[in-house]
Amino acid sequence: MSSPQTILMTGGNRGIGYYTLQALVQSPNPYILILTSRTLSAAEKACSTLSSLPPANPSTTLIPVALDVTSDDSIAALVSRLAELKITKLDALVNNAGIAMDAALRGTNPSPAEIREAFVKTMDTNVAGPHLLTTALLPLLESGDGEPRSRVLFVTSGLGSIEEASKPDSPYAFVDAPAYRSSKAALNMVMVLLGKKIEGKGVNVWACCPGFCVTELGGSDAGKAEMGAKTPEEGAVVIVGILEGRREGDVGKVVNVEGGVEGVYGW
Ligand SMILES: NC(=O)c1ccc[n+]([C@@H]2O[C@H](COP(=O)([O-])OP(=O)(O)OC[C@H]3O[C@@H](n4cnc5c(N)ncnc54)[C@H](OP(=O)(O)O)[C@@H]3O)[C@@H](O)[C@H]2O)c1
Repeated sequence: MSSPQTILMTGGNRGIGYYTLQALVQSPNPYILILTSRTLSAAEKACSTLSSLPPANPSTTLIPVALDVTSDDSIAALVSRLAELKITKLDALVNNAGIAMDAALRGTNPSPAEIREAFVKTMDTNVAGPHLLTTALLPLLESGDGEPRSRVLFVTSGLGSIEEASKPDSPYAFVDAPAYRSSKAALNMVMVLLGKKIEGKGVNVWACCPGFCVTELGGSDAGKAEMGAKTPEEGAVVIVGILEGRREGDVGKVVNVEGGVEGVYGW
């Protein structure tokens, strides 16, 4: 029997993070799943709901831990908590937590201060948070012998592709979300830079886009399905594919799955 892989998910209490964990709970492979959420109570609630599903592998376990990626104290507390739990290695880190504030400002004639606040908070959560968390967890991800062993995923968006934004015929060209789109372009850069920094240390990195999904990202989900959004279960497929080793040929790229077809976004 294979030994369980240990995977840490940020923002695992709802949306795409939650449904990725649900797919892993329903997988025949064994996992130790560390479900993190901004509040411990939300993490515990999500773990309890996932634990009530029929277990596909009786060895799979769920561990709730609090984590706010915008707080250095919270990241330090997570590292301490993992040590208390005697978790000394991670097979994968999924930097999934993210926010989008642009939609709430659209049509409101926002003040410069409100626009600045949207940029600063979005960059903190979507860019600085994943960079600092991944850096803090590197000792648990790196392998001594340099053999590929662990995976770090950055959940990005096709909206962060500067190439897509520049194409006049791209469906993404005119989505008016400057703070969010800039943050995902910057997150792609974080992925590349961290990948270079840890080259030879047994850690592979990817950025991955789940596609447009019906979740609470950017506010109410009303109307998203009518606009063609997928379910978060469908969005989770790209993340699960990387975690299950199906995208090893696309290390260091921005990967997607659209209409069941695996693809790669241009920068
Ligand atoms: N939905 C889409 O169409 C779409 C498309 C492309 C990419 N994505 C990306 O997919 C990822 C997941 O988004 P989603 O659609 O599942 O959104 P969601 O339903 O809004 O979930 C976002 C998750 O991030 C958590 N979070 C927010 N700020 C955090 C912080 N400071 N520290 C820790 N956790 C925090 C939220 O926790 P709380 O419950 O505490 O708020 C929640 O668990 C995001 O990175 C998003 O940019 C989504």
